[in-house]
Amino acid sequence: QKDGYPHFMIKEIHEQPAAITRTITPRIKDMLPDFSEDAIADSFFENVSDITIVACGTAMYAGMVGKTMIQNRLHIPVTVAIASEFRYEEPVINEKSMVIVVSQSGETIDTLEALRLANKYTKKTLSIVNVKGSSIARESSYVLYTHAGPEIAVASTKAYTVQVASFYLLACKLAMTQQKISVEEARTFVGTLQEIPNYIEEVLAQAPDIEQLTKRMINANNAFFIGRGLDYTLCMEGALKLKEISYIHAEAYAAGELKHGTIALVSEGVPVIAAATQKHVYSKVISNIREVKARGAYVILLSKDKEITDPSICDVHINLPDVSDEFTIFESVVIFQLIAYYTSVGKGLNPDQPRNLAKSVTVE
Ligand code: F6R
Repeated sequence: QKDGYPHFMIKEIHEQPAAITRTITPRIKDMLPDFSEDAIADSFFENVSDITIVACGTAMYAGMVGKTMIQNRLHIPVTVAIASEFRYEEPVINEKSMVIVVSQSGETIDTLEALRLANKYTKKTLSIVNVKGSSIARESSYVLYTHAGPEIAVASTKAYTVQVASFYLLACKLAMTQQKISVEEARTFVGTLQEIPNYIEEVLAQAPDIEQLTKRMINANNAFFIGRGLDYTLCMEGALKLKEISYIHAEAYAAGELKHGTIALVSEGVPVIAAATQKHVYSKVISNIREVKARGAYVILLSKDKEITDPSICDVHINLPDVSDEFTIFESVVIFQLIAYYTSVGKGLNPDQPRNLAKSVTVE
């Protein structure tokens, strides 16, 4: 079943281009987002006062990307909530609030209970779920099934990218329905999304280089992921992946926050994985990276620059295919997944079955 790959995780990392294509294609008509096959009425996208996205772990990090994509277009409040917190809080939602729950398995108990709570306040509940007929899919008003196919490795990879791709289509649909973007803009956006699987293929071709550079990671006790904006949301996913399968303590920081405390932890040789793909904050991130480099960090930098050879910036530069800023995260996350995977394998661990973790968390 591993199709010649040594682990399910690496097989699933490589399945991402096909999984994204499978997920988005049925939802694109005439180059525009269309959810008629999911039987989601257009009225669902109208009269939305605010949106709450609820999930756990990697699904929640996908939600954070979704938040940025939606909020930047709709200019309404979008909140991301950790399901195990949300379900015990006083929800600030009403009948005009949309609640989007995200879950690969569709069975995560905290996410399910959060959905049940949300259902008491609004009919506008939508789940983004991978497993057909799962509890979360059954109990939400609408379901958008991702078509990642079965995900066997405990660490989520392809489920994340299809969740994010689904959010991109939703953001576009919401913005169109509420006349925040023109049909032309929507078509351009959808056209770029359709190209993403090709860009991911290009990134996957760099796997041998990534394997090489992780040799430098295996002995690390700590690692940091830094970025700003969308890159920062992605860093959270990168850090989680590294933690869960390589057992290296990893944290994500908004690059501008480093000097407010964390930089004290940066010492000689500490790996810092930095992403600088967002034009509007590029120079700021680069100066944050210089600060950690000056303190001896081993910096791996992801950017769309062809080449960075300045040793005061980074030790290793990973060039990402040139796609518009909002779409680079699909490329960076694949690099992050490969870093986690090869670090785990390099340490002699089994990335498919990390200690203490189960694929589906049905206990509270
Ligand atoms: C991390 C991972 C977990 C899940 C989380 C939610 O790689 O897989 O963080 O994302 O347990 O699971 P689902 O999406 O099934 O609700």
